[in-house]
Amino acid sequence: MKLILAIESTCDETAAAVIAEDLRVLGSSVASQDRLHQRFSGVVPEIAARAHVERVLPVIDEALQRAGCGLEDLTAVAVATTPGLANSLLVGLSAAKAIALARGIPLLGINHLHAHVYACRLAAEREVFPCVGLIISGGHTHLFHFLDPLDARLLGGTIDDAAGEAFDKVATLLGLGYPGGPALSKLAEEGNPKAIAFPRSFIHEPRLQFSFSGLKTAVRYAISPQGQPVRLASQLSDRERADIAASFELAVAETIAIKATQAIEQTGVSRLCVGGGVAANRVVRAELEKRTAEKGFELLLAPRELCTDNAVMGAIAWEKYWRGQFDGLEIDILPGLMR
Ligand code: KG4
Ligand code: ZN
Repeated sequence: MKLILAIESTCDETAAAVIAEDLRVLGSSVASQDRLHQRFSGVVPEIAARAHVERVLPVIDEALQRAGCGLEDLTAVAVATTPGLANSLLVGLSAAKAIALARGIPLLGINHLHAHVYACRLAAEREVFPCVGLIISGGHTHLFHFLDPLDARLLGGTIDDAAGEAFDKVATLLGLGYPGGPALSKLAEEGNPKAIAFPRSFIHEPRLQFSFSGLKTAVRYAISPQGQPVRLASQLSDRERADIAASFELAVAETIAIKATQAIEQTGVSRLCVGGGVAANRVVRAELEKRTAEKGFELLLAPRELCTDNAVMGAIAWEKYWRGQFDGLEIDILPGLMR
């Protein structure tokens, strides 16, 4: 049985997984850094990189242990090299290069965004390409036309904040902790999503772009209307906070679902695969389900546990392996989004 060790360190999760050639996940480990970044209400790149240095070897050991194998059993080693935080990417890549060199096994660099979409392929246990791929995470909100798992053409993305970033920033405005997505979603369950008509950018335009910074500003003014004394989250009633959360969540969910449906119509590919942390959101999932069903499109959502960053989705490395697309030790990180 051939085995790949996949390593993930693009942002603030250090993760490793062992995946067999039949795509069975034999062992997986994720070390979250949420606690370290909490008091800054966002990821601090230098703190993230240093934490990766401390965690990468224990996380690899744990994944191997869970899989019941050692470095000597590996057929290849894979690592996400793009996109992400430069110094965080470097830690994962250095570990992967060291293993490839020490064991004399192939090295496979993978695209983190492609991997998020591949989580849908893993869960489906069947072919899902070609498709439109939607990645909604803390760093990205992007639509791609996937011709196959490794060939994706960028259709468009956010021109300012990512969807997850908007969740995190609005959560901070509402006095919730970091990362704010899950906490905001919980608060929203108590609120009325129709209470406030927040903006839904670009939904009436064909261009496949997103913008969430205006929505964030609208939330700020819902808390503290212009010309009135500034109010803190703690001065809002529980009902006001819940209504703002629910109305914001629905605005994001509808915007995402409408733009994704437009992308399907424009490409003529009738299948949508969705991954990334925000794809774990209950209302986002429901809106995507509703709008794709209305049009008769096929929808594949990454399983909740594979939405946020993990190394299991590094199974995409097998696609490169079977094509013989190995990387040399000179491979470098590419922090920005490849077009
Ligand atoms: O994919 P991910 O783990 O990291 C990046 O690659 O960015 O996504 C993290 C983002 C955070 O912004 C977090 O607040 C958001 O995903 N998130 C959610 C939920 N779970 C995670 N946002 C809304 N609702 C959720 N249930
Ligand atoms: Zn991610």
